[in-house]
Amino acid sequence: MFGKRGSPEAPGFGAKPSPVVAVTGGTAAVLDASRVAGDEAAARRLQQQEQAKTAAANAATAARGRRSENYYDVKSTIFAALLDTIDLSQLAKLDIESAREEIRDIVNDIIALKNIVMSISEQEDLLEDICNDVLGLGPLEPLLARDDIADIMVNGAGKTYIEVAGKVQITNIRFRDNTQLMNICQRIVSQVGRRVDEASPICDARLPDGSRVNVIAPPLSIDGPTLTIRKFRKDKLTLEQLVRYGTITPEGAAILEVIAESRCNVLVSGGTGSGKTTLLNCLTFHMGHDERIITCEDAAELQLQQPHVVRLETRPPNIEGEGEVTMRDLVRNCLRMRPERIVVGEVRGPEAFDLLQAMNTGHDGSMGTLHANSPREALSRIESMITMGGFALPSKTIREMISGSIDVIIHVSRMRDGSRRITHITEVTGMEGDVIITQDILRYDILGEDANGRIIGRHASTGIGRPGFWERARYYNLDKKLARALDAASVEAEPAR
Ligand SMILES: Nc1ncnc2c1ncn2[C@@H]1O[C@H](COP(=O)(O)OP(=O)(O)OP(=O)(O)O)[C@@H](O)[C@H]1O
Ligand SMILES: [Mg+2]
Repeated sequence: MFGKRGSPEAPGFGAKPSPVVAVTGGTAAVLDASRVAGDEAAARRLQQQEQAKTAAANAATAARGRRSENYYDVKSTIFAALLDTIDLSQLAKLDIESAREEIRDIVNDIIALKNIVMSISEQEDLLEDICNDVLGLGPLEPLLARDDIADIMVNGAGKTYIEVAGKVQITNIRFRDNTQLMNICQRIVSQVGRRVDEASPICDARLPDGSRVNVIAPPLSIDGPTLTIRKFRKDKLTLEQLVRYGTITPEGAAILEVIAESRCNVLVSGGTGSGKTTLLNCLTFHMGHDERIITCEDAAELQLQQPHVVRLETRPPNIEGEGEVTMRDLVRNCLRMRPERIVVGEVRGPEAFDLLQAMNTGHDGSMGTLHANSPREALSRIESMITMGGFALPSKTIREMISGSIDVIIHVSRMRDGSRRITHITEVTGMEGDVIITQDILRYDILGEDANGRIIGRHASTGIGRPGFWERARYYNLDKKLARALDAASVEAEPAR
């Protein structure tokens, strides 16, 4: 009914952070200038609030960052004495609070016995650090407790970077040595039944709060274990918040809602850390509560709110090289699980073929993300994933399959000022000869930058009044909402200057 597919009926860690040093840091129409200015101002205010929060958090731990070598020596001495004194296996049987109390008493005794001179606040810091080492994830704990950090990147024991407000910064967090770091990595991955060592030095895992973890250990990583954590925010971002952050306009968000509610098949494309998974998660808020949704991920990051959700996760091979369950296996299995929608966290291989097939065969409203620099590149990447997957299909057939399955590509970008924007809402309209035809419905145009180096730009409709998914929107009684959003997003042409 909707031109392409058959049946619409089958719709288918800071609190004590260290002081940080920054190291990185068309003739479209014009939106009503005051609106643009208003949106930009709101986004800037929000950014300023975030910066103030970060500064406060950083100030709180500045003292911690300025610790002397002496602090670390004292900590090592006390730590060694503690390990000689306590029975770790007994400690493990206690609840966290009792274990903390036990450690606190013993550390105070050791400090008194060894005549170590420390101020009360140093002693408190030391106790906190030691408790974190024994009971938690050691030096990572203060970073994990902060909610303003997007990524934690540990490059061996001596260097830890974080990403805050879109910018990468170095911290003074450090581990005793690579052995301590490796033990922490082990502790993390063992929580999800995986292991990391010289024999299997690469491992994906996740923290109990849903943060995504990747570990790559020596000998592959030359300067010590490298741990990367994509922190998952406790306050899940919604489309409404993306509007407040200036990632998209209210009209653009309304278009996205229609896209998700009317069960368009969607690909979210973008660079690394651009906000693809976050946007995918936002879109899933607009899936029906009566739908059976199956998610397939390498490390479960998505947090769907619907009651009827089945979450699947891939599995790496064991030490004998057996037992691997790939993304392709999961997507194929999904098809036998009576899904109404399939959501693939990240499409990066031959599973692209199976996802397209699912989209084509009654599982409308399926979604996935993929790494690409533009919506067009997203299409060619899908094609090459299929080709490289060993499917001996003529390229025209693959393209027909792509254009028959994907309705909309939403492209996200992390801008050079650290902000994230939806830069394109592009629909796939069909084929002309051998070429897949796409048309942008909404685009983000960069107009310049302000005195603080922040990008000024605007989201503007390209003037498409009736996108290809109009009929689909009408079928779901969303045509008026779509018309209103498109109307509001369209603006008059910029006068020549
Ligand atoms: N629109 C946004 N505004 C502000 N922060 C955002 C926005 N979108 C995402 N983020 C933050 O950016 C970080 C990266 O987001 P996300 O995990 O969605 O990126 P990704 O593109 O999926 O990354 P990857 O390529 O590593 O999978 C997260 O901490 C997230 O909270
Ligand atoms: Mg992602």
